[in-house]
Amino acid sequence: MTTKSLDAYLGAWAGADAGRIAVARTIGAIAEAGREIAYLVAEGPLAGDLAAAVTNNVQGEVQKHLDKHSNDSLMAALKQAPIAALASEELDHPYVVDPSAGLLVALDPLDGSSNIDTNVSIGTIFSIMPHITGKNPATHDAFLIPGHRQLAAGYVLYGPQTSLILTVGAGTVGFTLDRRSGTFFLTAKQVAIKEKTKEWAINASNQRQWDDEIRSYIGECLAGTDGPRGEDTNMRWVGSLVADCHRILVRGGVFLYPADKRKGYTEGRLRLMYEANPIAMVVEQAGGRAITGRERILDIQPTALHQRIPLIFGSTTEIERIERHYAEPTAGEAPLFGKRGLFRE
Ligand code: F6P
Ligand code: MN
Repeated sequence: MTTKSLDAYLGAWAGADAGRIAVARTIGAIAEAGREIAYLVAEGPLAGDLAAAVTNNVQGEVQKHLDKHSNDSLMAALKQAPIAALASEELDHPYVVDPSAGLLVALDPLDGSSNIDTNVSIGTIFSIMPHITGKNPATHDAFLIPGHRQLAAGYVLYGPQTSLILTVGAGTVGFTLDRRSGTFFLTAKQVAIKEKTKEWAINASNQRQWDDEIRSYIGECLAGTDGPRGEDTNMRWVGSLVADCHRILVRGGVFLYPADKRKGYTEGRLRLMYEANPIAMVVEQAGGRAITGRERILDIQPTALHQRIPLIFGSTTEIERIERHYAEPTAGEAPLFGKRGLFRE
């Protein structure tokens, strides 16, 4: 199969535009680190214990060997890119590269770390934003830019295949790593999320902690043909945001990580700047939608670099259905979670 390489795709998109050339070089650096991480992930236990705990990160979560290695690889590659600074889940504060440069990068270096030693897909998520003149790139404030201003976003998925999913604001495209040549080749020219779906993804173990709107929506999914939805549904939950997102790009569906009542989860679990925003841009550019429940993710004005946010994204008809649950709270709970329901408390 002969197809365009990532470099050729970016070269054609950037042309002679200096701003685009800088974005293209930055994506190239991320892809280079992604390739190196992909080879390491594929070695699994032959490369040592990649899931071994190293320390705690800024989120108070255990940082594993592969989290740290991925962060180091991306930093090393991005030091050569025309960026002012990068922010990462693994760093408390931004790392300054060249304060006079016009771009900022926010990274989740290794998403889905709970799956590192299970041989299940994990990934790197990235967001490329403008560095606003006058803002000190060493400060968190410089990064607090709403998602609709991202210049490019995407993820590298380390699965049976290594995929690079990318948007530069002109649709969402997909590349696959050719391990023989080390080149990413264009294999999906225009990703389009199916409008309708019956497949949903949520960590159902938190059901009793959800708000009423999520409980009623999931209740309807579970009720299937016996409920108001009138059709049976299916559930999938990988536990790696990148892998769940990828499945939705390929065959439709909806992903939910809502806020819930647990300590530390009242604003959701996922991070706005380097998880929700880039995934939302990829999803919207593929024809889907991404919301908190009440608001569009890309419209949110961030207030903190490591801020968490409820994240719901996927096929448009399903997002509209969820919005109706938020708009009409009196719609009540579906039979399975209702007063006489199977899952009542
Ligand atoms: O990065 C956070 C993350 O690992 C996501 O990849 C995934 O969607 C989520 O957490 C899984 O959370 P939980 O373990 O609560 O199901
Ligand atoms: Mn993550």
